[in-house]
Amino acid sequence: MTAPIRTDPAVVDVALGSRSYDIVIGRGVIASLGARIAGLRPGARTFVVTDDTVARYALAEAEAALSAAGVATHRAVVPAGEPSKSFAILEQVCEAVIAARIERGDLVVALGGGVIGDLAGFAAAVVRRGLDYVQVPTTLLAQVDSSVGGKTAIDSAHGKNLIGAFHQPILVVADTALLDTLPEREFRAGYAEVAKYGLLGDAGFFAWLEANWRDIFAGGTAREHAVAVCCRAKAAIVQRDERETGDRALLNLGHTFGHALEAAWGFSNRLLHGEAIAVGMALALEFSARRQGLVPPAEAARAVRHLAEVGLPTRIKDIPGEAPTVDQMMDLIAQDKKVRRGMLTFILVRNLGSAFVETGVEAREVRDFLSEKLAER
Ligand SMILES: NC(=O)c1ccc[n+]([C@@H]2O[C@H](COP(=O)([O-])OP(=O)(O)OC[C@H]3O[C@@H](n4cnc5c(N)ncnc54)[C@H](O)[C@@H]3O)[C@@H](O)[C@H]2O)c1
Ligand SMILES: [Zn+2]
Repeated sequence: MTAPIRTDPAVVDVALGSRSYDIVIGRGVIASLGARIAGLRPGARTFVVTDDTVARYALAEAEAALSAAGVATHRAVVPAGEPSKSFAILEQVCEAVIAARIERGDLVVALGGGVIGDLAGFAAAVVRRGLDYVQVPTTLLAQVDSSVGGKTAIDSAHGKNLIGAFHQPILVVADTALLDTLPEREFRAGYAEVAKYGLLGDAGFFAWLEANWRDIFAGGTAREHAVAVCCRAKAAIVQRDERETGDRALLNLGHTFGHALEAAWGFSNRLLHGEAIAVGMALALEFSARRQGLVPPAEAARAVRHLAEVGLPTRIKDIPGEAPTVDQMMDLIAQDKKVRRGMLTFILVRNLGSAFVETGVEAREVRDFLSEKLAER
């Protein structure tokens, strides 16, 4: 199938009162970046933060779009990868923003995946006590998840995302054509988060994904539709619970098991975040299916089948390298989650498309389940 060069953008509104913003989604929408910024903040100057891989594919296009609208630009290019979510790189970015005389009223532009969105968003949150910023997500994960909702952070020696701030962008421009250059493995990992939205809240969308996933990967119109549905779902959840005191936790479906697996594999390239989440969701589904009145086993199996069909790992034994012991997994889960009197909180699935927060999961039950799963190797 040949993909269209450009289509009408879809616009999703994130309604957060004075912190409301639009997410503009479509092939080629990056060309409108400058005009949109000039419309929102006439006369504002911009500071683009990107990584050295994204710079090769998308920086020229972004800067051309800004200049065409008469928007002045500066830039910082940081090394690609998670290690850039550090104090050292944050300092470099903040100092460069200040050196470029970016003032209140000017804008930071995060051009990249979740790493750049988190880093540039946090820099924007702290320089001059808060600058506005625009997200231009260039990975599938960033387009459907990290660029929306205002969570920004860098990593601590104690764990990921421990130093950060809630800081909403003023605009998100998600050009689905930028995903054409994303390595297939990165795209697939991002797809795990797409499937997550179906599993947690939208059975119809999940069924649509089962039928249309190939066109999403191929860059057809299904891709934009999928990104728009996910952004709408995330916007709805963030509108209900901006600071994650309740419902926003549903977005963590598969993430308790997933984070423990990521940590066990040392946050390395052997297991990408989305891959860990695919295994984590499969585990959460299977764990749910064993409980009375929750997702029927055949439905859980159907969901896992879809994840496997797109090429995602779904079992711990699918992950290359040595698996952790059950004690190590339980320690990692306890670090990620508060354990209260031996009880853990998990996102469980009642039916495909209906997840809920269960605060009363016995640690012993999780341990028995994981012992069994780890023995499958
Ligand atoms: N703030 C949030 O709500 C939130 C939510 C989920 C994840 N995150 C964070 O997001 C990060 C992961 O994001 P990610 O998966 O996008 O990783 P990433 O930003 O590291 O991008 C993955 C790789 O793809 C490359 N890349 C990006 N765009 C490309 C393109 N268009 N073409 C070719 N290569 C491209 C990058 O250079 C990088 O090497 C993690 O740090 C995670 O903590 C944040
Ligand atoms: Zn995730």
